[in-house]
Amino acid sequence: MSEKINIAIDGHSSCGKGTLAKNLAKELGYLFIDSGAMYRAVTLYILNEGLGLEEVEQDPAVLGNIKITFEFDPVRSYYETFLNGVNVENEIRSMRVSKFVSPVSTLKVVRDFLVTQQQNIGKDKGVVMDGRDIGTVVFPDAELKIFMTASAEIRAKRRYEELEKKGVHVNYQEVLHNIKERDHMDSTREESPLAKAEDAITLDNSSMTKDEQARLSLSWARGVIKSLASS
Ligand code: DC
Repeated sequence: MSEKINIAIDGHSSCGKGTLAKNLAKELGYLFIDSGAMYRAVTLYILNEGLGLEEVEQDPAVLGNIKITFEFDPVRSYYETFLNGVNVENEIRSMRVSKFVSPVSTLKVVRDFLVTQQQNIGKDKGVVMDGRDIGTVVFPDAELKIFMTASAEIRAKRRYEELEKKGVHVNYQEVLHNIKERDHMDSTREESPLAKAEDAITLDNSSMTKDEQARLSLSWARGVIKSLASS
């Protein structure tokens, strides 16, 4: 049996991290974990319970009531997020949650709570996890770390086209502004800011197709697995 590894995928928002991570997990038969979905689920809980951020900071025990699980939906070929047994996959992507997730993810108590769970999920290896601090904080020993990036203009164009396709009409300049703002927030926050791990491979996909990225990342993963098996 071949050696299992953990794969950490970090990078800016709207870079296609999820697509790449999902594909790698599928090809390798690994578990895919969207760590952003976990921050979103905690945010939904806080909103539903009407908790203030200060309250959570002062009494982190309230987080003990949160149980996040993932279930694979074979029809959509997708892992869905459950909060205390309820499927919240759609709700955690709503604007209500999207607007509040950034401040929630700056709280140290929230990060400590989720990082512990993420590390537990990865303890037996065979996990592809995407996020902002996976290679630096969650799995500093991951055998393969990929840091994804693309120019803000390219990411905005992709996001704009994706939304247009869904029939959501937006202003390109607004999308670009939002992406730049999120980059700034992700990279400058005090707790676990987005940063490239020293041993991560940079994947700038500004001028790459999804297929090219999938092939390249899979060849990196297979290379690492092979070298571990022969060492
Ligand atoms: O990847 P996403 O947009 O679904 O992430 C939602 C939010 O969670 C985003 O504001 C960044 C934050 N996040 C984080 O701080 N650390 C992670 N490992 C993943 C996401």
